[in-house]
Amino acid sequence: MPILNLTVGEPDFDTPDAIKEAGIAAIRRGDTKYTPVAGTAALRAAIRDKLQRENSLNYPIEQIMVANGAKQIIFNAFAATLDEGMEVVIPAPYWPSFPDMVRINGGRPVFVPTVPESDFKPDAPAVERAITPHTRWLVLNSPSNPAGAVYGEAEFAALAQVLRRHPQVLLLLDELYEHVRFDQRPRVHFLAVAPDLADRVLVVNGVSKTYAMTGWRLGYGAGPLPLVQAMTAVQSQSSSGAGSISQAAALEALAGDQSFVADAAAAYAKRRDALVSGLAAIDGIDVAAPEGAFFVYAGCAGLLGRTTPAGKALRSDTDAVDYLLTSAGVATVDGASFGLSPYVRFSLAVSTATIDDACERIRRACAALLPRTEAAA
Ligand SMILES: Cc1ncc(COP(=O)(O)O)c(C=O)c1O
Repeated sequence: MPILNLTVGEPDFDTPDAIKEAGIAAIRRGDTKYTPVAGTAALRAAIRDKLQRENSLNYPIEQIMVANGAKQIIFNAFAATLDEGMEVVIPAPYWPSFPDMVRINGGRPVFVPTVPESDFKPDAPAVERAITPHTRWLVLNSPSNPAGAVYGEAEFAALAQVLRRHPQVLLLLDELYEHVRFDQRPRVHFLAVAPDLADRVLVVNGVSKTYAMTGWRLGYGAGPLPLVQAMTAVQSQSSSGAGSISQAAALEALAGDQSFVADAAAAYAKRRDALVSGLAAIDGIDVAAPEGAFFVYAGCAGLLGRTTPAGKALRSDTDAVDYLLTSAGVATVDGASFGLSPYVRFSLAVSTATIDDACERIRRACAALLPRTEAAA
């Protein structure tokens, strides 16, 4: 039985041709040398224009830097600002690199668990309780990986109030999945709600997810000048500027034809509907439609305590994920990996045919589990 891989964290689409051609043209014209550490002036200007056009943010190019993926932007930020023992508040479930990057840089992640009833977003009092005099950052990821949480104006306003009371805390706003949105609400930027906090906010974005460019390794950040300068200094002595060819391709991505972005979002929306309705029909799985990003984070508490036909009791989401892999041939990721159990993360970066096949296989595998009472007997 071929394995259906629903663990994928990157678009299954190919990079659009115009972007590839821009990369090829850069090679041909000899754009193959070191670039400024913070990125080429042309790309930073395109990022400045993007932030203005799509987010109504006004950053001069000195406050914008480019790196090898958003991942390196985030790493630079923590490396530049964390001292031993400083704390970073991270809502759970989270993208696992956030806490690991904090730890690598001597910091301590402090988690704020969330619940599906609030669409996996933390309420402001819970965030405030997690803040101490040692807190350096709050991390918000909207839309979020893995739960698809999208923050609205009221939530941002409440969190902004908390930040105003704790001036030592910076906000890292990861917007990598910005364009994969399913809800019809108008897009609101944190900095439109709280422009007074601009000198404490790092906006993180990139081309990986929006333009199917994960392998090009290109991300960017915009923030207060001293922070961006410190991050650039870190990058100067680690990797230098991002690849010149990738920067030329990213310029085309941001400044060229944008039709791919809407087409991809429409495809993810169809897949989300197929996956959510397929999972909703399965006894033991509890699913709500995510508002954004390309994952579904489904509860599996209803499977726990049940026993497999081979006689193994499912005790955790890790057991459930193992069972789906070995019995149904469907690969998924356990909630434990994202700091909130018991859940299973399913990716939407696969075709609807794969989603339908996966749902049918999972349905059969779950139906084959012994019910709790029999298992206990
Ligand atoms: C929430 C989030 N932020 C950042 C990244 C890193 O993206 P990249 O380094 O490819 O730009 C990822 C990738 O999976 C992600 O899920």
